[in-house]
Amino acid sequence: MRKIMVLGAGTMGSGIAQAAATAGFSVLLCDVAEEAVVHGFHVIEKNLSNAVKKGKLDEYEKKRILALIATTTEKSRAVEVDLVIEAIVENIDVKKKVLAELDEICPSHTILASNTSALSITEIARATKRPHQVIGMHFFNPVPVMKLVEVIRGEDASDETVEVIKELAEKMGKQPVDVKEAPGFIVNRILIPMINEAAFLLMEGVSSADDIDTAMKLGANHPIGPLALGDLVGLDVCLAIMETLYNETGDSKYRPCPLLRKKVRAGHLGRKSGQGFFVY
Ligand code: NAI
Repeated sequence: MRKIMVLGAGTMGSGIAQAAATAGFSVLLCDVAEEAVVHGFHVIEKNLSNAVKKGKLDEYEKKRILALIATTTEKSRAVEVDLVIEAIVENIDVKKKVLAELDEICPSHTILASNTSALSITEIARATKRPHQVIGMHFFNPVPVMKLVEVIRGEDASDETVEVIKELAEKMGKQPVDVKEAPGFIVNRILIPMINEAAFLLMEGVSSADDIDTAMKLGANHPIGPLALGDLVGLDVCLAIMETLYNETGDSKYRPCPLLRKKVRAGHLGRKSGQGFFVY
């Protein structure tokens, strides 16, 4: 593994590109929109400059990392790479279309990885003629800081693909965990229903938002309360994940809380909209 294309230069893509270049890989950061790649590269520069200011990195290292990142809007340059990590919009039809295109462009050895938060890797893989080389590589936000990578094995992924991706995650300073395909994987399957349950407590008037969060911080030793965490993740994202869990399993324990739905309908999406369970 020498050269990696990161497709999608948004929140996750720019973070993945930074982590890969920091680990010494040559990175092609690609997006449909020129302004997105410019912005993505700028975010990386800013992050690295902050690390220099904090004394975590020297100026030489910063330049070395930036020199490893090239930007492009030409997907056809995937012909040059050993791995593509896609971090584009969370829409199964778009991801399937893009992976089918990459399948045509990439050399036969190239692995196609998806950073999807909840979609089926098996279904995405089936859009290509190389389903044994398609895998889920689920990073967490902010990528340069968060240590975990969930490695999601779809129905047809080969052992070799899984091993290569786990090794890569380790080289990027991350801890990989093995996950067989299942809605929400590990983290979101546990975390998002907890946030949903906190919303039920609030809706039922069992306690106030402040006290629910204080209880979980002091009683369960969580660094942040579940309602504040929901606001950080985005309530629309939380609702979408609850709906995936519910639709995929049909299990009523995953029913989205009506209060969560109401907040999303009102546009109170959390920190990004200035208001969610709390006001910012
Ligand atoms: P974002 O909206 O910040 O970035 C997406 C980027 O993809 C945009 O720059 C957009 O121009 C680009 N894009 C869209 N369609 C494209 C195409 N066909 N070809 C090339 N580029 C295209 O989104 P974000 O938050 O970075 O999410 C990306 C993926 O990562 C999604 O699948 C999301 O579910 C997943 N994810 C997000 C996390 C988060 O906390 N934001 C955490 C873990 C996974």
